[in-house]
Amino acid sequence: MAFVEIKNLTKYYGELCAVDHLNISVEEGEIFGLIGPNGAGKSTTLHVITTLTDFDKGEVIIDGLDLRKDKVKIKQLIGMVPQDIAVYDHLTALENVKFFASLYGLRGKELTKASKEALDFVGLSDRLSLKPKHMSGGMKRRLNIACGIAHGPKFIVMDEPTVGVDAQSREHILNSIQILRERGATVIYTSHYMNEVEIICNRIAIIDKGKLVASGTKHQLVSLVTDVQSVYIHAKLPMGFLAEDFMKRLRNMPDVKAVSMKDYMFRIDIIMKENGISRIVEQFIQQGISIISIKSEEPDLDTMFLTLTGHDLR
Ligand SMILES: Nc1ncnc2c1ncn2[C@@H]1O[C@H](COP(=O)(O)OP(=O)(O)OP(=O)(O)O)[C@@H](O)[C@H]1O
Ligand SMILES: [Mg+2]
Repeated sequence: MAFVEIKNLTKYYGELCAVDHLNISVEEGEIFGLIGPNGAGKSTTLHVITTLTDFDKGEVIIDGLDLRKDKVKIKQLIGMVPQDIAVYDHLTALENVKFFASLYGLRGKELTKASKEALDFVGLSDRLSLKPKHMSGGMKRRLNIACGIAHGPKFIVMDEPTVGVDAQSREHILNSIQILRERGATVIYTSHYMNEVEIICNRIAIIDKGKLVASGTKHQLVSLVTDVQSVYIHAKLPMGFLAEDFMKRLRNMPDVKAVSMKDYMFRIDIIMKENGISRIVEQFIQQGISIISIKSEEPDLDTMFLTLTGHDLR
């Protein structure tokens, strides 16, 4: 069984169906991305699984525990980094983190140690006594993250943790999340930025208007809208090389749709498969052709989202 199983989750706010029969499963130890436009129901889903809000229908199982029956135990497993920064302005950075970690039972030396480590982890170790009102937006975001993870949760839920931070802080945050995963945490990560999700998430669910549009690896999602990718190989041909013959050979390979060449740049359109590019490269190597550069173009997740839903992500 998956670490998180969400089955037919449905949540109404009055008449509005914010989450509509949603099915998602997250494996232990993965970084799972949840993407969708404003109002798609991402935060609502996260609020349900972190026990912050009730739901109307469906089933949520986390680490084998049923959300309807084992709320308290589930709460102990989770670290939540909310979309709206939730820190206390009158407390210092260290006091804030200690406060949140203490809610999970940490006390005394252990509490201080874990809180300092969390602040170090987000790059705020030299700002322990700074209060949020004197922090930049990016620093507050990082403090928000430290508050959510100091107690060492097994399951971390992050709701747009990089909104409004500069490129450097963003990179720091993304790296930190991958370190948390390496340490064994399971992470659900929500973002508007496709490029972030592509980088750090092994699987992604796309939701729109409360419903699941598609889920899978980036590769699986992209292949829902197209199965062809273009591979561009800039090559140095040996003297007297018969390019036409070589191109014919490439064209005869299974899964190759088209081959052309201009100024020593080959363009090969192939059906996307796990080892597709490797098989092409092998052909070049066999012929003693040096590859100067190689790049591949496949539709990005933004294009895929547009194709599947008929509108932009934002
Ligand atoms: N407490 C609430 N009361 C009433 N309606 C709500 C409440 N919270 C969210 N909604 C509505 O539920 C829908 C889903 O909102 P939600 O915040 O889950 O979306 P989201 O995907 O997180 O969007 P964003 O990208 O803007 O954060 C929206 O239509 C929103 O207006
Ligand atoms: Mg949200």
